[in-house]
Amino acid sequence: QPIFRKDYRRPDYTIDRVDLRFELGEEVSRVHATLSMRRTDAAAAAAPLVLDGENLVLVRVALDGRELSAGDYDLGPTTLTIRDPGAEFTLSTLVEIRPQDNLELSGLYRSSGNFCTQCEAEGFRRITYFLDRPDVMARYSVVVEADRAKCPVLLANGNRVATGELPDGRHFARWDDPWPKPSYLFALVAGDLRCFPGDFVTRSGRTVRLEIWVEAENIDRCAHALRSLQASMRWDEETFGREYDLDIYMIVAVSDFNMGAMENKGLNVFNAKYVLARPDTATDDDYDGIESVIAHEYFHNWTGNRVTCRDWFQLTLKEGLTVFRDRLFSADMGSPAVARIGDVLGLRTNQFAEDSGPMAHPIRPESYIEMNNFYTTTVYEKGAEVIGMMRTLLGEAGFRRGMDLYFERHDGQAVTCDDFRAALADANGRDLEQFGRWYSQVGTPIVRARGDYDAAARSYTLTLEQAPPRGKPAAELLHIPVAVGLLGPDGPLPLKLSGETAASGDGTRVLELRERSQSFRFEEVLAAPVASLLRGFSAPVELEVERSDADLARLMAADPDAFSRWDAGQELGRRVLLRLAADVEAARPLALDPAFVAACAQILADPNLDGSLKALALTLPNERLLGQHQQVVAVDALHEAREFAVKALATALREPLLAIYHSSAPQGVYRIERAEVDRRKLRNLALAYLVTLGEPELVGLAVSQFHLADNMTDSEAALACLIDHGGPERDAVLAEFHRRWHKDPLVLDKWFALQAVSSHPDTLERAILLADHPDFNLLNPNRARSLIGVFGLRNQHQFHRKDGRGHALVADKVLALDPHNPQVAARLVAAFNPWRRFDAARQHSMRAQLERIAAQPGLSKSVREIVDRALAPA
Ligand code: ARG
Ligand code: ZN
Repeated sequence: QPIFRKDYRRPDYTIDRVDLRFELGEEVSRVHATLSMRRTDAAAAAAPLVLDGENLVLVRVALDGRELSAGDYDLGPTTLTIRDPGAEFTLSTLVEIRPQDNLELSGLYRSSGNFCTQCEAEGFRRITYFLDRPDVMARYSVVVEADRAKCPVLLANGNRVATGELPDGRHFARWDDPWPKPSYLFALVAGDLRCFPGDFVTRSGRTVRLEIWVEAENIDRCAHALRSLQASMRWDEETFGREYDLDIYMIVAVSDFNMGAMENKGLNVFNAKYVLARPDTATDDDYDGIESVIAHEYFHNWTGNRVTCRDWFQLTLKEGLTVFRDRLFSADMGSPAVARIGDVLGLRTNQFAEDSGPMAHPIRPESYIEMNNFYTTTVYEKGAEVIGMMRTLLGEAGFRRGMDLYFERHDGQAVTCDDFRAALADANGRDLEQFGRWYSQVGTPIVRARGDYDAAARSYTLTLEQAPPRGKPAAELLHIPVAVGLLGPDGPLPLKLSGETAASGDGTRVLELRERSQSFRFEEVLAAPVASLLRGFSAPVELEVERSDADLARLMAADPDAFSRWDAGQELGRRVLLRLAADVEAARPLALDPAFVAACAQILADPNLDGSLKALALTLPNERLLGQHQQVVAVDALHEAREFAVKALATALREPLLAIYHSSAPQGVYRIERAEVDRRKLRNLALAYLVTLGEPELVGLAVSQFHLADNMTDSEAALACLIDHGGPERDAVLAEFHRRWHKDPLVLDKWFALQAVSSHPDTLERAILLADHPDFNLLNPNRARSLIGVFGLRNQHQFHRKDGRGHALVADKVLALDPHNPQVAARLVAAFNPWRRFDAARQHSMRAQLERIAAQPGLSKSVREIVDRALAPA
């Protein structure tokens, strides 16, 4: 029973005002709703009113104050239908719900005893009967009543307009949200929480109160989140002219949350992981993650809330755009090259894999069964790439003009991706029709490049060709921006296209590929160049180009574009590793290409690269990424090849790595600043290489770093190497870490995750034991992801162990979790999506697990959709 994009219809009824009263209780909670409604002109005169509702016990329903009796309405399992309610009316309902039994964590539920909500995409219908669709926007007024002792804090969207006492030790708060919003942005929080306060003065001079709400023991971990929020608010004013629009902005951290965070109007609810940080509990990467998720949810206030989506097929309208905005922000806050490398690595590892498997879909899907399954890396990350391409085509100023027009036209509306594209096009007098095909394109397109140098004419002709994704039929031609530079023997060359009078650009030109094949002729090219292609990853495509290893080594050493240097190094590393894997399979002796070793040595010694860039350049492509470049993923050969290469590099670079390790020891206490992050990144990379050599004094470096570190970045890095190394040190440090942190859920998640991701050959056996550890709790999404998610989705070598026990472990947990939290179970079952990419034995094993899951009676539609797609004929 899929829902199709083409079937969209405007609603027959809409809701202008919503009055809610929550009586929160330990056993039952009661929700009184009064909806001011009217028929829209989309409706036939006597259209029935069909409200959504799920897991609700209906106590009473009244129309214009008159209580309806059972004959006046139809109650279905997920609907409440009222025949011909009239053109304008007030509908009141009273329902009972049981938040304490809500393990799906969708709708109103309890986490650590506190009440909280998650309504996107379709959770509001689990709170009250409603038109639970984003194109119904209403003004909300909410009264929350609860026991004062159990729930001293009562929060909802908007401004607190009244509070007071009630009989029996109860109290209430009333919240009004002046801005019309769709139901998915509703939020309520009630419980025993502490506030970490701050403020922000907007550019027009209003003071906004900022509040971060956490459990009492976490009050000393909020400073970074608050700073990140303030920085985001300033940045959106400066970069996009967007100011905040309420007097208060609240963020609540909860420990049980299906996703990262949620942008509810004025009351964000966050996975605690993206709020809480203290130097001894959170790593440098955690700090970055918090900064970007806080920014993401804040930026949604304009891209998502003030202008929202007409229907869920348009999800990338808000998500792709908001990810793009949070990336621009992160680039501005730190190193643009480091940020871009991280984004592209993630895109290639996860989104390209999704694109080549059974869940492949366009950034704007054409159909879905369970919307929650489409909060994907394609909708988010590829969606952000599509926005980025439009910015590349329009330029920074043109993009800003387009954004301004988008807000001007659509403030307060629920719109489509086409509306967004039209605003960008109209503001710039540009045609983005062909570009629009990116919204329906499935899979990763291929761009082939060929360069011909004509020494006599001193010209270089670059031919670019676009091809559909591998194994997919020819598709409509896309509009693809390809950023290029030319590197001569003495450095970058000026770029003068034939027909132009002078070179232009700052050494990079954006070529627009719109035909199947196009040639671009550069003139006055004095020597045979190496082309630096797809700089900054200007389009989410697979690039195919004939380049020698020597060309790649030259780009890796000298491309002026930091991203392209990294990218060239990764391609070189990938070739080296794939050749090694072939050697493993053919039982040939292994030797690491000396030219590659030399290129790595040069990176390590380069005075112009910071530590973070060096660490990224010297991290070899991961096994999942390498597998994407094989016909059949050679699980064991890839693993052996990569392990061999790491050790060979460590052997060859032992002295410089050791010198870096010793010379970059910490000075003074932990500080979260650029230079310090760079230092830690490089030093911990050096440590990771050195420990693979297994020499007692090198292993000893990790052991003492683990014990001496004053911060989680360094202690986690040491722990990770020691887990991979194994031996008695491993058990000792794991026991110590557990003893120190077992009461701290976010840190204990790291303990599980590091063991689940380990390259050590006994990881599977240990994962099986960990799944029975008393601290493992499948019902907590963070804990489930840290063991089962990390193992199934990130540890290719161990998950795909030949005997199939890795597959069985993940399938068992999917089946155990599905009856309680299908959304998270559906995420975990995605580990089986790439099953067709493996050898016959592994295919057989995964297929058997998929079939076992599919045969489970009462399987949720979330997991059913993923499994059915995986098993459908390719
Ligand atoms: N809108 C949230 C964000 O990206 C994500 C919510 C996803 N929720 C879900 N049930 N799939 O910021
Ligand atoms: Zn989002």
